[in-house]
Order: sequence, then structure tokens, then C-alpha cells
Amino acid sequence: MFNKINKFTALIITLVFSLSILPAHAVDKHSYSNDDKIVGTHLHLDLTVLFSKKIMRGTAEYDIKIIDKTAKHFILDTRDLEIKKITVKIHNKKWQKTDFKVSARDKMMGSKLTIAIPAGTIKVKIYYNTLPKASGLQWLTPAQTAGKKHPFLFSQGQAIHTRSWIPIQDSPAMRLTYTANIKTPNELLAVMSANNEIGTAKDGDYQFTMPQKIPPYLIAIGVGDLHFKAMSKITGIYAEKYILDAAAEEFVDTQAMIDASEKLYGPYRWGRYDILMLPPSFPFGGMENPRLSFITPTVVAGDKSLVGLIAHELAHSWSGNLVTNSNWEDLWINEGFTSYVENRIMEVVYGKRRAVMEQVLSINGLKNELKTLSENDKILNLKLDGRDPDDAFSGVPYTKGQLFLMYLEAKFTRAIFDPFMKGYFQTFSFQSMDTPKIKAYIKKELIDKHPNIVSMEEINFWIHSSKMPENTPNPTSDVFVKVAQGRTDWLAGKITLKNMPTASWTVHEWLKFLNDLPSDMKAARMAELDGAFNLTQSKNNEIAHIWLLQALRHDYYDAVKKRLRNYIISIGRRKLIVPLYAELATTKKGMVIARDIYKTARSGYHPLAQGTIDKVLKLDQ
Ligand code: BES
Ligand code: ZN
Repeated sequence: MFNKINKFTALIITLVFSLSILPAHAVDKHSYSNDDKIVGTHLHLDLTVLFSKKIMRGTAEYDIKIIDKTAKHFILDTRDLEIKKITVKIHNKKWQKTDFKVSARDKMMGSKLTIAIPAGTIKVKIYYNTLPKASGLQWLTPAQTAGKKHPFLFSQGQAIHTRSWIPIQDSPAMRLTYTANIKTPNELLAVMSANNEIGTAKDGDYQFTMPQKIPPYLIAIGVGDLHFKAMSKITGIYAEKYILDAAAEEFVDTQAMIDASEKLYGPYRWGRYDILMLPPSFPFGGMENPRLSFITPTVVAGDKSLVGLIAHELAHSWSGNLVTNSNWEDLWINEGFTSYVENRIMEVVYGKRRAVMEQVLSINGLKNELKTLSENDKILNLKLDGRDPDDAFSGVPYTKGQLFLMYLEAKFTRAIFDPFMKGYFQTFSFQSMDTPKIKAYIKKELIDKHPNIVSMEEINFWIHSSKMPENTPNPTSDVFVKVAQGRTDWLAGKITLKNMPTASWTVHEWLKFLNDLPSDMKAARMAELDGAFNLTQSKNNEIAHIWLLQALRHDYYDAVKKRLRNYIISIGRRKLIVPLYAELATTKKGMVIARDIYKTARSGYHPLAQGTIDKVLKLDQ
């Protein structure tokens, strides 16, 4: 009896203790917000998009909830915003002005906005405008679009860029609903990560509602000469005319992907799933903005070879958007889970053979990247003190995270692991997740329920060590074994290129073949390949990317002359162009070429890509 009470008391003490000392969320190193004291629960945006000035102007109005009665300030993140005036509403009284302070700009964090909150305040309204240099917006002139007639604007919030167009508590541990009233030039259409009603009249005045609570980095907007084409009842494409039909054809399996994921991981919780096709300058492959993934046009290859990207962004509807990393040190909780789910979707829709090829390509990519990373950046649970999350970006959260889950899947079997994953998404829906919390869940639901299969030591090694565990999954693809054999035989002079069955190769086989060309191969061999397969003119952007990279590494300057410049200028997706700039920057001759191309290319790139490439070409000092 005594023992029991004792245990019970201990439990209560632990509970009370942990509740009282833990803030509403663990401290986020990348936000000034005090959402443990006062929290903005709903945001209403009223913004006018002014293309002539490259600014948005209007108001951000918050419903606030006071958690700590002694709190006198509402603290928001901003970066490069002009704050004109702030008003508060106290109960049912009229709006009244309140004091505020914008602190000095920190290079990484931006400026802390401290707003005085009189007792009884229920709403706060900020009058502001963005600046043309907002890091989270790209403003394209008509000449920079495909149609050439209308301008284009899009936002990119992740990781900490929403604060450059909305004053906000910009931590992924935050969640809020939002509504918006967006005014644009009459002939343009605005879309957001919210309800986009089909058939909305183009009149330059648009209303949006996002009824589900989402983290700030998922608030997103696109404005342009957009048209809509449905793919299924709940999926469709928004795009400029030039790519509308091609994208709808390329991504026609999106509904099948949703079906596959729902079957594995439970219902799709967001209503519609649409895709916004961005201009080629979009700095990422894709961005999982809820209800409306933002997608680079560089994946519309004509043969569905690069649609893994759609599976990836869709997968975030569970991993990332439903269950969200609480801070950017735990990006693996978003991206590792998503890479794993992406591959499971690909397996259902396109078969095991392709899914395994994609695993092997990612794992090869990770192996190569690990050689270049610092020990710190090889850890799943990153330590980012004083560092911008953008600077620590790598394949580790993605592919090491994916491998960790593949490991658990293999150990526990799908019969156990699949329901575990489904339960995880269900249990933590619309909540945030960090490393301690996920470890506790793994322990409770996997390790303790199915003992003697995996130990917590192993789990800790995966999450906290910079090494790859010895028993890391090592999938092999029969298809790739044959490709590698062909390459070896050709290099050894045993066969000619004609003897290789390249006619039946998919893009994946080409990528495998080209990725692993030996570094000591002669330029003449590159010329031989080009003569046989015209790789310099490849229409597949991934193939062209690896081909150009190899051309630089092997001094095959014919490809550099004929394609590199065009390629780098016409694409803004960082993954495809940064490695090329970096390779050029390794030689004197290359650096001259790179800086020359960049002179023309820079103005067409997104601020994020500009920042990265400025550094690569040492133009940032
Ligand atoms: N959420 C990411 C993009 C991102 C990550 C933006 C971190 C800012 C900071 C998106 O889902 C993504 O992973 N995109 C990849 C897709 C690929 C792995 C299939 C990309 O853009 O290449
Ligand atoms: Zn992702």
C-alpha cells in the first residue's frame, strides 16, 4: 500500500513539476516569439499586392489568447517589414493605438517586434508593408515568366522566411488558423495554402480560409496568370497556360498516390490537394504548402520519371503538416518521415522495382554527401545554435532519416511497423513533435511492446551519432547491378556502347550510369557517350544536371560550351544549379566562367538561391 501511494505521489509530483517548468513548447532558437505567454490563435490578413513597387501592403490581425496573465507584451518575428501602426481591441471597445518597438535587425533572426498589450486585449492589428527584398517572396517581372505578359509572385516560408512578409510568431511549434483578403491586379489569380474555390471569378479580390491549425511556415501565396485544370475530383493544377496540360498529364497519378497513402496512414485530412506550378526560378523542387503543393516545372519530364517529388510533397500532408517538427533542429522528423512515406507511395503506385531504384539513388547521394559534411551535420537531431537552418540543409535529415525508418520497418516487419506509423500520425495530428517526444513514443509503442528486437541504445545511435550504424539497410537493385556491369565492361573495352541495352533504360538507370562514372575517366570517353546518346541536349533536367556536372569534372568542355550556360540561367532550383556553380568554383578557369554566367543569371534567381550562390562564388563579402 505504502509503495503504491509512494509511486502515485511520485507520478503526480513529476507531472506537476514538468507542467510547471515546461513552457508551452520547447524553446525555439530561431524565433523571438513568446507564444508560451501570449499566443496568436487566428490570423486575418488583408493585403494588397503591388507589383509596380514589389511590395505587399495592408494589415495582419490576430485573435490572441493570454496564457500568462502577467504578460504585458505580444512578441512577434519580423524581417525587413515596415511597421506603420499597431492597434488593439479591448473586449468590445473601439480599436485603439498601442506602443510597439522594432528591435535592431539580426542577420539570421530578423527584428523582434514587441507590442504592448493592455489588460483585456482580445485582438491586435498590425499595419505594415513588406520590402522588395523580402527573403520569403520572389517578384517576377512579366519578362521573367513563360507567358511574358503578366508578373508573378510567390512566397516560400520554410524555414524562417514567413516573417519577411507577415509579422508572426514564426516557430514551427506554433499553430494557427488563418483567413485572408488579397487584392491583386484584376487579370491575375491569387491562390493560397487554404481553400481555393474552383471557378473563382478573376476580379482581383480574393478571399481565403484555412480552417485547420497550421504552423506559420506553411502560410503561402502565389499570384500570377494562373489557370486551373482538374485531374480528379479533389486534385488539380494551377499553372500558367504553357504548362497546364503537360503538368496535368505528368501528375495524373496524384489521386492514386493519395489513395495509397490513405490506405497506409489514415485519412487525408485537408480537403482538396492541388498543385501550383511555379516559374523555373522556384528555389526548391517542391514545397508542401497545405492543400496546395508548390512545384518546380523542372520535373515535368514527359514520362513521369520525376513524380517522386509529388509523392514527397503529398506525403508531407501526414509527416510535417499533420505532425510537425517543433524546431528546425528536428527537421528529420519532417523530412526523414516524408522520404520514407514518399517511397512507400511510389512502391504502391509504380512498383517495387522503381521504389528500390529510388532508394538506392538517394542512399548513393547521401554516401557522397557525407564525405563533405562536418561531423555535426551528420547527426539527425541537429544542433543549430547561432546557425541559420538554411545553412545546415543537407541530405541527412532526408535520407538518414528515411534509412532509420527503413531499419525499423525491416526489424519489426510491416505487420507491426505500418500500424505503428498510422497510430503515430493519428495520435499526434495537428501537434508538434521533437526528438525526446518521438523517442518516448518509439519506446512505448515499439520497443516495450515488442521486446528484444531493437534496443534504445540502437535508437539513440541512429538519432544522436554522426556515424551511420553498422546494420544500416543496404538495398540493392538488380537493374542497377546490370547497369554497373555494363559500364565496367564498356570502360574495360570489353563491349561497345551499342552492346548496352540503353533503349530500354529509364531515367533512373541513366542517373545511376552517369552518377558513378569514375573520376579518372578520359574526356574522350565523355565525347563517346555524347556522340552515342546526345546527353548534352537531354530534355530530362536531372540527367542534364549530372551530365553537366560530369562534363566539368572530366574537362569535357564541349558540353559546357553548348549547354551549361543556358541550363544554369534558365533554372533556379538550388539542387540542380548550386552543385554546378560549386564545381566550377573549384578551378580558376571555372570560377571565371561561373561569375560571368552568374552576372546574367542572378537577377532571375530567388533571394534564397542568390544568397547561396553569392557564398559559393565568394561574392558575399
Ligand atoms: N519542405 C521541403 C523543402 C524545404 C526544406 C524548404 C527545408 C526549406 C527548408 C520540401 O518538401 C522538399 O523536401 N523538397 C525537396 C524534394 C525532394 C527531396 C523530393 C526538394 O525541393 O528538392
Ligand atoms: Zn520535404
